[in-house]
Amino acid sequence: MSLPAYPAVRTGCPFDPAPDYSDIRDGPGIAKVRMWNGTTAWVVTRYDDIRAILADRRFSADGTRDGFIQFAPGVNAQVSTFIRMDDPEHARLRKMLARNFTVRRAESMRPEIQRITDDHVNRLLSLGPPADLVTEFALPVPSLVISRLLGVPYEDADLFQASTRKIMSWASSAEEAAGALAELGAYLSDLADRKAAAPGDDVISTLVTERESAGELSRQQLVLMAVLLLIAGHETTAGTISLGVAALTQHPAQLAALRADPGLITGAVEEVLRYVSVVQSGLSRIATEDVEICGQALTAGENVILYLPAANRDEKVFSDAAKFDIHRAGDGRHLGFGFGPHQCLGMSLARVEIQIAIRTLVERIPTLELARPLEELPFRDEMFVYGLHELPITW
Ligand code: HEM
Repeated sequence: MSLPAYPAVRTGCPFDPAPDYSDIRDGPGIAKVRMWNGTTAWVVTRYDDIRAILADRRFSADGTRDGFIQFAPGVNAQVSTFIRMDDPEHARLRKMLARNFTVRRAESMRPEIQRITDDHVNRLLSLGPPADLVTEFALPVPSLVISRLLGVPYEDADLFQASTRKIMSWASSAEEAAGALAELGAYLSDLADRKAAAPGDDVISTLVTERESAGELSRQQLVLMAVLLLIAGHETTAGTISLGVAALTQHPAQLAALRADPGLITGAVEEVLRYVSVVQSGLSRIATEDVEICGQALTAGENVILYLPAANRDEKVFSDAAKFDIHRAGDGRHLGFGFGPHQCLGMSLARVEIQIAIRTLVERIPTLELARPLEELPFRDEMFVYGLHELPITW
């Protein structure tokens, strides 16, 4: 019997998980899938199993381990900074950034994020209708926020956005992805030199002046951490904003309720994160011991892919899970940001950005609707992080 393929594509409703993988969740829970290079891995689809694996030290995130899964030809162990390491080194590096990503720090950035958001809504309004929400709003707003935080000049956003697209696509060859990573790395290393000479109030300056100079951080590791933050910090948030807006336009009563009561925004954003689950590559881990999952024996050295979109629609945890409902108790139980030691470092910042972005759009553009039918929109099926290449809106 032929094995299901990875990646499975969201062939049904564009917000829903890939049907093949939802079937696995509702059936055995776990199944062997065939990767692009002929290797196999286990895809795990249920909420409880995924949480258990993410908290289980018998599963490693160390991308340098023999046989660690490669999602695509272009995925290269060099992107491996602490997201692809285990403790204690993972914790040591993550801690160097922790103070920049607390809830408090994210909350303190609200006025600046609001200003950036307002500027972009003003620009949208001056350009249209119609206008493309992705290029004019959903992508630049989080890109600007992460640039400010890191100290990357926003004039160079084209470079990091283009590199990210190449690094994060199933369609990139190994050479393309490695080239993009090398280019971005060289740019950031050069930037670190400039920060060493003239430090500012930003993350790269702090890493250079406090950590690299103290011998706690190599230049290569510093650059990889900056690459990770740039990549992780804008496409995920941009995808969630654009898909969230698209989903809301399909539910006009909920859109109207949100407009009438801005207090609903926190729950609405949690529901968007659950419902669209942008990290569609799933998370990867390798078993370091023989272990049983869903009654299936896994041997040490086997890989698991934790498919978050299916887990976030698990009926055992979310009643009427297929339904988009911003009134659902938004207690953040979804796995959109992962779980355990690697849970998203930027989640507080992402939440603030998405809340401000969606609330401001809803308030400022009360008649917002899609300029083309949902079925005709270009969804990012070929990317590790889901979203839209373009979102034409009108008002
Ligand atoms: C909607 C937006 C976002 C989503 C859905 C998201 C999702 C995730 C997920 C699922 C993980 C876990 C990876 C794993 O366990 O293998 C993760 C990790 C991470 N995210 Fe996010 N993320 C978002 C925004 C951000 C932002 C804005 C930043 C930073 C500015 C960021 C930085 C990171 C970092 C550094 C890690 C690695 C943490 C570690 O390994 O300890 N993310 N993210």
